[in-house]
Amino acid sequence: MTEIKTYPPSADFVKNAHIDATKYNEMYAASINDPDGFWAKQAERLTWAKTPTKIKNVSFAHPDVSIKWFEDGELNVSANCIDRHLDTRADQTAIIWESDDPGISKHITYLELSEQVNKLANVLKNDLGISKGDRVVLYMPMIPEAAYAMLACARIGAIHSIVFAGFSPEALAARVDGCAAALVITADEAPRGGRNTPLKANVDKALAICGDTQVLVVERTGADVNMQDGRDHAYHTLMAHASTDCPAEPMNAEDALFILYTSGSTGAPKGVLHTSGGYLLWAAMTHEYVFDYHDGDVYWCTADVGWVTGHSYIVYGPLANGATTLMFEGVPTYPDVGRFWAVCEKHKVNQFYTAPTAIRALMAHGPEPVEKYDLSALKVLGTVGEPINPEAWNWYNDVVGKGTCPIVDTWWQTETGGHMMTPLPGAHATKPGAAMKPFFGVLPVVLEPTSGEEIHGNPAEGVLCMKDSWPGQMRTVYGDHDRFVKTYFSDYKGYYFAGDGCRRDEDGDYWITGRVDDVINVSGHRMGTAEVESALVAHPKVSEAAVVGFPHDIKGQGIYCYVTLMEGEEYTDELKTELRNWVRKEIGPIASPDAIQWAPGLPKTRSGKIMRRILRKIAENDYGALGDTSTLADPSVVDDLIANRVQK
Ligand code: WT7
Repeated sequence: MTEIKTYPPSADFVKNAHIDATKYNEMYAASINDPDGFWAKQAERLTWAKTPTKIKNVSFAHPDVSIKWFEDGELNVSANCIDRHLDTRADQTAIIWESDDPGISKHITYLELSEQVNKLANVLKNDLGISKGDRVVLYMPMIPEAAYAMLACARIGAIHSIVFAGFSPEALAARVDGCAAALVITADEAPRGGRNTPLKANVDKALAICGDTQVLVVERTGADVNMQDGRDHAYHTLMAHASTDCPAEPMNAEDALFILYTSGSTGAPKGVLHTSGGYLLWAAMTHEYVFDYHDGDVYWCTADVGWVTGHSYIVYGPLANGATTLMFEGVPTYPDVGRFWAVCEKHKVNQFYTAPTAIRALMAHGPEPVEKYDLSALKVLGTVGEPINPEAWNWYNDVVGKGTCPIVDTWWQTETGGHMMTPLPGAHATKPGAAMKPFFGVLPVVLEPTSGEEIHGNPAEGVLCMKDSWPGQMRTVYGDHDRFVKTYFSDYKGYYFAGDGCRRDEDGDYWITGRVDDVINVSGHRMGTAEVESALVAHPKVSEAAVVGFPHDIKGQGIYCYVTLMEGEEYTDELKTELRNWVRKEIGPIASPDAIQWAPGLPKTRSGKIMRRILRKIAENDYGALGDTSTLADPSVVDDLIANRVQK
């Protein structure tokens, strides 16, 4: 094996870090040997209305899988993110908002945050009749009101479910319907990269599909929107008269905080449910330790609140820690490809957290757009969402971090609530592309994929599972606990398995090798191939579709679709364009097919099962590795598909 270069943190960094190597080892051992003692102590970082005495109560092996943390504790998440900081931080900036327009930004102090969240909580309760346990869908731009809405829901015990503003009205309707939402909070429009997405018009279309709920509309651009009497309410009008005092509802630690829909390998997206105590503790603790956040630092995560990264690492983790968190409305390439670095300079960002796909896209423009800016405030760089290739890692390290900022490559999932495997910047010598070590309380195992046996010793390669629970773990699939058990706990009995492969190297460090199921990762966004397939077959001219991922230079993976048309339909280029637009309409632009190949025949076994392995290899342009095709009903379709492969 070629020698892998490691990057230890500087002595200075280690000296100031919350966690060094010795402390990591001590704390990790304590977290595994005595979870109750360890987590009871860690829970002290939150403010509880009732201190928990029962810490961990979990069984992965139970047929119903039961996961409870801090089950007799009571707290309120918004009080933890706001109220408890007011004595010491009322005038400190909680949120720096950087608009899509580079000329506009604003600072929101903890006191202002408190006023806005209290007012909105009163509006939800008193004007819109929302109460504890009700579901509220957020379909919003990246504006402070999105954070206010999350925290206002948390304050009164309503469960928010954020739908990324890039999703189509159809996808929004399915999610509003899926959780029977009592309210949708949106804005007139969402400006991004100089273009405005008509959010309110999309909500109107969605509600025409799934039936009416109340709508609360924030004015962002001032665009003219349709307001339906009795159904739609103007945010600014209701906020004008609301009181700034709304007592925080005491919540049980296991009461739901939010639902977030995510794609799986089969069926429609699942509503991942996170609860209050364990989730917040996990988000706060990982935010502090993984980014080595110190008081006074300015921290920026470039994600959107529509994804879990935005939940845990723009809003809940940082605010629970009393941090200053930057919220960016725009895109990395507007008005030009230097935007990220301009924002880092402008706000003196200390910790910067983004996705490999963004790094690869910016890397393609060379070092000049980075070097124009003063990035000397940067201390830690983070990546998330997909495996990072060493070229991108090295560019991030050299060009952005000038070789002085540890890079934390954080592996986690919507389901895990927060970071699971990552280096800690003051404790570990990083390796380009490795997620390195488990966070406290995380017990990873590598299983042999077919036998399900644990592989002991190093190196090891197989599927990544968790042997025990951690506080930030999802508790159920909203409304479908059987699906939760089936999806995550039935392939490998007694373990949590969420679909990634991994390798543990000679040093015991972990490398994520990518999904081993039919989930693909497009620009760090998770997409179920089954979802794209069902969008395609919903088109009247399509009889069958098979969708696979293929390597894509910028996006990590692209979406490759094999499509069979109904008898008598004509295979034309116009129809390809129509299908591409159709998928965008059904799901959203993030699901845009990168390649559509006409497939009058698909490789199927004699029992009719599509051999996706073969389709994957063809899309990857890797014919040498097609494997055994003799079990196919008609092996000749393979040659046909190869001959007509779409060049990408
Ligand atoms: C899937 C989870 C976690 C927030 C963003 C995505 C992949 C995530 C890494 C990483 C390699 C990664 C995995 C995982 N993934 N982070 N650092 N290295 N792969 O959340 O949409 O729930 O997707 O993203 O495949 O299972 P998500």
